[in-house]
Amino acid sequence: MWNAIFGSSEEPSPTALEVTFTLNGKQVTVGNEVVEGTSLNTYIRDVAKLKGTKFMCTEGGCGACVVAATIEHPVTKQKQTLSINSCLVPVFACHGWDIRTVEGIGNKRDGYHPVQANLAQFNGTQCGFCSPGMVMNMYSLVADGKTPTMAEVENAFGGNLCRCTGYRSILDAFKALAKDATPMMKKQCADIEDMYKICSKTGLACSGSCKKDSNFEEIVPKSVKIPAANWYKVTTLNDLFSVITSLGATVYQLSAGNTAEGVYRHYNRQFDARIDVKDVPDLRTINTSGGFTVGANVTLTEAIAAFKTQAAITGYSYLTELANHLDVVANTSVRNNYKVPGAKDIPADFRINFRKNASNPLGLLNSKATGEPALNMSIVCFFALRNALDSARKDAGDVADYYDIKLPATVETIAMTSLTDTSQFTFA
Ligand SMILES: Cc1cc2nc3c(=O)[nH]c(=O)nc-3n(C[C@H](O)[C@H](O)[C@H](O)COP(=O)(O)OP(=O)(O)OC[C@H]3O[C@@H](n4cnc5c(N)ncnc54)[C@H](O)[C@@H]3O)c2cc1C
Ligand code: FES
Ligand code: FES
Repeated sequence: MWNAIFGSSEEPSPTALEVTFTLNGKQVTVGNEVVEGTSLNTYIRDVAKLKGTKFMCTEGGCGACVVAATIEHPVTKQKQTLSINSCLVPVFACHGWDIRTVEGIGNKRDGYHPVQANLAQFNGTQCGFCSPGMVMNMYSLVADGKTPTMAEVENAFGGNLCRCTGYRSILDAFKALAKDATPMMKKQCADIEDMYKICSKTGLACSGSCKKDSNFEEIVPKSVKIPAANWYKVTTLNDLFSVITSLGATVYQLSAGNTAEGVYRHYNRQFDARIDVKDVPDLRTINTSGGFTVGANVTLTEAIAAFKTQAAITGYSYLTELANHLDVVANTSVRNNYKVPGAKDIPADFRINFRKNASNPLGLLNSKATGEPALNMSIVCFFALRNALDSARKDAGDVADYYDIKLPATVETIAMTSLTDTSQFTFA
């Protein structure tokens, strides 16, 4: 039936056997050597060995993994730099992207990017674990000459958690780069101008965009098939249906933003092939002539902007409420890649029952409702402390399985629990 509707049973268009993208300006190809399901985050950290990008929740909630990606829109053909959660994006989904990590925008040797310099200047970093994600989120917000307001800066940080610095100084650092920053804030930025990395071509702060390999634009073809991983990327509906036909009885899954991975974890995967459909123009089109239709794979960021514009037209004012609602769903980086949920994403039966006779009553405590990233972020400090104490107590000869850590864990409590005293220290 699909072929009857879309008129093609031909083989898909010319197809590459690996995906190509740039990482901090350097062109890379990824193919059969990488297993299906490998995230961009794993690729960046474990293959490219760029450890600046962190990870924590791996479900789109903490922002530790945020990188910037410059992506061409399949309909408008315009390139836009967006913050992306690298933990959710499969590395195979990055074909044609220009990806930048914190290492790619500035460093001690070449000079810092204003976003990095400002974070330091405003004391916005302590342990530094969240800093790369914070920096890349802000970098994406000001990239391509964008000039956000302070309110827009604040709104963009709904998905970046910091467990130690506190948000005031981080937000002050970034709001100081907003177009409506107070003169006092701007003055503080001016004091660090000599730390800025100035572009020799433009005389402005470096955007990092001109370091790309010159032949990157030439990437052809756009369609991809990675045989070992059974991963396909299609850019037309005809190709999509050809691939589906060629897969026969193989169980496949379409992949758009892959953000559902944050909720329905990969170990529940029940498919043998994946088809990346996010660059099929028909699925990314917003049509306003003779009605208002939104393609199945339009991102939430795009949908919010379109809803706000359309709301000005008589009969569509209700879209303002929808835009306001979507603005609090997930967070900016996830929304940049997250498509409008379809009807099937909503459970058909939405009644809630308490599990009176559940075989594992404590199971509820393990649900996502109680395991949200913020809790994980804070508990991680406690477990790090416990691991350190385990080790210190072992060194001190303790063999007990259990010991109590009195809270609050003050310096004295930790020193006592570690069973260590200064007589054990060796001074060189
Ligand atoms: C932090 C966070 C918060 C979230 N909050 C919410 C929330 O509030 N509400 C909510 O509903 N979801 C939420 N989600 C889940 C998820 O992001 C959404 O369901 C989103 O709509 C998935 O979009 P995607 O493009 O990433 O789809 P993907 O993850 O790529 O795909 C999801 C499913 O849709 C199918 N699909 C993709 N494109 C098409 C297409 N063109 N035609 C048919 N099927 C297709 C895929 O095969 C797959 O089964 C959240 C996720 C995260 C990470
Ligand atoms: S590790 Fe990606 S959002 Fe937390
Ligand atoms: S500085 Fe933010 S987590 Fe430590």
